[in-house]
Amino acid sequence: MIRWQQLHKWLGLLIGLQLLLWIVTGLLLNMIPSVWFSASMHQQQSASAQATPISLQITVSINDVVRLSHLPLSDIELITILARPAYQLTQVNGQQVFVWADTLQTTTKHQQVLSRVSLTDLQIHQIARASYRGDAKLAPAKALKHDNTMPVGTLMITANDEVDTRIYVNRHSGSVIAHQNNRSDYQQWLLMLHFMDYNSENGVSFNHFWTQIIAVLSLIFIISGIRLLVYQLHQGHFWPIKKRPVTINLYESQQLIAQISAHSGCMLDNINKHANAQQAKGLITECGGGGQCGQCVVLYLSTPPSACEYDIAKLSKRKLALGYRLSCQHIISNADLGLSPQQVSQWYENTSDVNQ
Ligand code: FES
Repeated sequence: MIRWQQLHKWLGLLIGLQLLLWIVTGLLLNMIPSVWFSASMHQQQSASAQATPISLQITVSINDVVRLSHLPLSDIELITILARPAYQLTQVNGQQVFVWADTLQTTTKHQQVLSRVSLTDLQIHQIARASYRGDAKLAPAKALKHDNTMPVGTLMITANDEVDTRIYVNRHSGSVIAHQNNRSDYQQWLLMLHFMDYNSENGVSFNHFWTQIIAVLSLIFIISGIRLLVYQLHQGHFWPIKKRPVTINLYESQQLIAQISAHSGCMLDNINKHANAQQAKGLITECGGGGQCGQCVVLYLSTPPSACEYDIAKLSKRKLALGYRLSCQHIISNADLGLSPQQVSQWYENTSDVNQ
């Protein structure tokens, strides 16, 4: 049972933390206007570099493309990259290749091959500038380190503006992949925490690994909670139905100091209920009846109940043999219980504190 309690406690902490993250990030995402997070704050809506009319210098035909690509193609599209004609080849696996439509390369073996698009840093900079709205200075293009979220060949250009805009341009397609800035980064962080999207390769799926883990842990949390509740009911906690009354006598050094008539519940609850009626605090504990602090220990002067798991964990074998038990873990019975002088002095100390 102790293991169930430990499990329940740590799961509660873990799930509680995630719940707190859900609430805080959900509130922030709702309260902060979405325009504040906008990644396209400085993005030019019409990319003029791409919209320039196509030149008519198309010397590579579609037949040439099919013959020379040696790729399993599902689609071919004629596009422009910086006003120069190019073919966008889509393979059957969805990957895309870009080749110039006005140039064929010749290899050292005098064979003709398609000329793949690979823009210079200056051209990348030109495309980034055309996609940027504002006067800020753009830094030179930088190659990205390994990043699975961007296509191969993507470069980053940063703008010296108030939100540190970053523009991502692909060297092979000439397309602007994305604009991002430090505010959109905050939004990504909040979304990541809110959806537990700790693995960036999840895409937009909610049914990812971490969601499944927290769902399973929540289920175990519920099961352990039910298990503990059943145990507590069995131990006499929260038991609403009254039984025939029993008498609990409390002694200090063989002197009767209290006589309690009880109908239901555990020993500790009834001792403290009686104490509270006398405006005293009773037995002071730290765990509130959880079997963890060991401060509710009493000595059974009459026959003790069998030691439970919590007694065994908190009390020495010698004490168990003498009849010491945790009063929070045992249901009421006709019993004579001995309190330690320290417990009694605390009891009366509290009575006088309250009465003063
Ligand atoms: S109240 Fe803490 S162990 Fe009993």
